[in-house]
Amino acid sequence: MAIDFEALEKAAKAAVAGALDQEALNTVRQRYLSRKGELTGALRMLGELPSAERPAAGERLNALRQALEAVLQVREDELGRADEEKRLAAEAMDVFLPGRRPRTGSVHPLRAIWDELEEIFLGMGFSITEGPEVELDYYNFEALNLPPDHPARDMQDTFYFTPRVLLRTHTSPVQVRVMQATCPDPVRIIAPGRVYRSDAPDATHSPIFHQLEGLVVGEGITFADLKGTLTAFVRAVYGEERRISFRPSFFPFTEPSAEVYVSCTCGGSGCRICKGTGWLEILGAGSVHPNVLRMSGYDPEKVSGFAFGMGIDRIALLKYGIEDMRLLFENDLRFLSQFSAQG
Ligand code: DAH
Repeated sequence: MAIDFEALEKAAKAAVAGALDQEALNTVRQRYLSRKGELTGALRMLGELPSAERPAAGERLNALRQALEAVLQVREDELGRADEEKRLAAEAMDVFLPGRRPRTGSVHPLRAIWDELEEIFLGMGFSITEGPEVELDYYNFEALNLPPDHPARDMQDTFYFTPRVLLRTHTSPVQVRVMQATCPDPVRIIAPGRVYRSDAPDATHSPIFHQLEGLVVGEGITFADLKGTLTAFVRAVYGEERRISFRPSFFPFTEPSAEVYVSCTCGGSGCRICKGTGWLEILGAGSVHPNVLRMSGYDPEKVSGFAFGMGIDRIALLKYGIEDMRLLFENDLRFLSQFSAQG
């Protein structure tokens, strides 16, 4: 029986050429060159040939094995290169593509105003202090001349932890804490911070908001000093052309007390922000009540002072023309990004 070398060679080379990946190529190698492969099978058949034909057939088979190994190697290199090219193509990057602009944050409008207010008061010689948000009834009310059952407590709906412990409803308790801890030589502080009231959130209310308290105490401090200080403050925040108005009011911790208004940019022409009045209320103030001085350990015969308290949120709303206070607390990036340098 003869071995059809031609057919074997043709079939093997076709199988090599048809292998599309390394795995297929290994299968072809197995099929022809392994111990049970077709070439090994042909080698075994050599013994059945007439002895005169054997050497030539053996040589032919060896040549075939070598040729097959060579094409296998070539194909393997080819496939390897193709794999490498595929990988490089997948990893390719276009160094000329414009870069992605990183998202930069922006200063929250509330923080921007807060910083601005601090700068203004620091410039006028005030120092910055703070007090606890979880406060004693004593500091929040009693020492501010608001004894238990005083009707003015109703002005501030309060979150109580216990009858004695509450979330401060204003920054005014810091006044008492500062006076108890320092001598009036003189006292000149501001105390910005978070305050809490049991109010349902709406366009003008939030259970958490921010105030900035001011206190000046010393010998011979008068209501005129209060007017001068707040007039300078209003001009610094709103501009020289704005007017300021002091109107009589009531706070238990000041006597006399005033509400302070700043003229609206609309001039009273019926704008929504000032409701057509031409004036915006921005803070409460007054001369420190002698009872408060006394309860803080100061002698009202020797020293006097003034205090003021303003809503930082309200000042931000007015300054930026924001109509709903909730926007300040929702942290919606579409709103906040309007305050970034990039716009
Ligand atoms: N604590 C007051 C409030 O929250 C604001 C206030 C009014 C503060 C008059 C003062 C002041 O220091 O003198 O409504």
